Amino acid sequence: MRGDRRVIVVANRLPVMRARGESRTGWEVSPGGLVTALLPIVQSRRGAWVGWSGSAERSIRAFSHEGVPIRPVTMTDAEIRDYYHGFSNRTLWPLYHDAIRTPEFQRHWWRAYVEVNRRFARAAASTARAHDLVWVQDFHLQLVPGMLRELRPDLRIGFFLHIPFPPEELFAWLPWRVEVLRGLIGADVVGFQTFSDAQNFSRLARRFLDLDGTDTELSIGRRKVRVGSFPISIDFQGFESIAERPETIERAREIRRRLGASRKMILSVDRLDYTKGIDLRLKSYEMMLDRGEIDVNRCVMVQVAVPSRESVPDYADMRTLVEQTVGRVNGEHSSPGRVAVHYFRRALGREELVAYYRAADVMMVTPLRDGMNLIAKEFCASRPDLGGVLLLSEFAGAARQLRRALLVNPRDHDGTAQSLREALTMPRDDARQRMAVLRMMVRRHDVHEWAREYLEALA
Ligand code: ADP
Ligand code: F6P
Repeated sequence: MRGDRRVIVVANRLPVMRARGESRTGWEVSPGGLVTALLPIVQSRRGAWVGWSGSAERSIRAFSHEGVPIRPVTMTDAEIRDYYHGFSNRTLWPLYHDAIRTPEFQRHWWRAYVEVNRRFARAAASTARAHDLVWVQDFHLQLVPGMLRELRPDLRIGFFLHIPFPPEELFAWLPWRVEVLRGLIGADVVGFQTFSDAQNFSRLARRFLDLDGTDTELSIGRRKVRVGSFPISIDFQGFESIAERPETIERAREIRRRLGASRKMILSVDRLDYTKGIDLRLKSYEMMLDRGEIDVNRCVMVQVAVPSRESVPDYADMRTLVEQTVGRVNGEHSSPGRVAVHYFRRALGREELVAYYRAADVMMVTPLRDGMNLIAKEFCASRPDLGGVLLLSEFAGAARQLRRALLVNPRDHDGTAQSLREALTMPRDDARQRMAVLRMMVRRHDVHEWAREYLEALA
């Protein structure tokens, strides 16, 4: 890899957020896999990060955080409403996730999307020096590669989509499909989580833009665009080392003691998003309790859900549905000291999260559609004891790699129930052997390899 080229990351969110404490004047690094992976690269490659602070602050000057130049892009309240909540989260998000909710198409949201993408492209253009690598992230910024190429043809431009890319039957709904495809093919490398996402994109670009090429390479005049899959991953060592700490092991034991040491613990951790299948998972569990296939003396479910995009109505509705279902299940099935479902609506700190992973007998990760799903990988990395069974949706990108998980169709309640029974009763040696294979996979293909491979392709 040509280590001499600077790497500029362009992402909807900055890698830092306002410090929590009293004054909220400083900044601290945001948690999350993408930041863990990319910040050290930007640091060592003397690059910069272009992104939004997450609020409508009018003027935030450029600053440096831990040696990384931070270039904030500002937005008005109306732009946050139309570009972020509107076009990103109510048009693109549902459309790209199998239209699980009906995407809404509003001209004024699209106009804000174009305007904000242009602002990101200009900010990237004025930050990048000659021949830098610019790496644009995710569905919020699909027009940036094309806009940036017009402004700065000297740059190498990469784009990576963290969520699924839909097949033609869905993508064709988008009134601005040609504009979005034109934006994306402004990149030199267009990266996706899975091969089928990449294939969907290549086919659509050939059809709607009339380009020549194959599933892995498109031609625009003399310029070649590489299209490929680069499954994102996690900082395996980071999770493993927390899981091995004596205090984590002790905390995991304490969690088990509190839940009832003899009960099997079923864990789920998600952003509270309708794509994650939280409602259906709870229903499968409820069905098993109703039928007497499991009982609260032997099992307990823990659902941790971090609030997300709460001003979008479908998210508020999902919260209501989840909370009603938890209430109903507990009302019907709990007894004193034996709660059927523990529901925590909050983000856990990294150490606490790993302690929960380490405490679980079964980890249920059952999205209806997910670009990758990092939680499944974090769970494996957090089990150096080879304990725990992973139950994973076929519709998560991670299922293409984690073949030794128990794969389920979350819409099939009977099938999910059967897999959950299998997980709860799996002989220890089988479970350990499965976990060893899963861990090997995640260790080998960690987030550092993801970034390295992508940047090699781009350079
Ligand atoms: P998405 O990007 O759609 O949110 P992923 O599974 O790929 O889904 O990534 C979610 C990230 O958010 C993971 O790194 C996970 O640890 C973190 N996360 C999700 N829910 C929680 C929670 N309740 N507490 C702490 N971290 C969470
Ligand atoms: O997976 C897509 C994604 O946009 C992530 O990049 C992000 O961490 C998560 O969803 C939460 O999104 P938001 O930035 O809207 O809170």
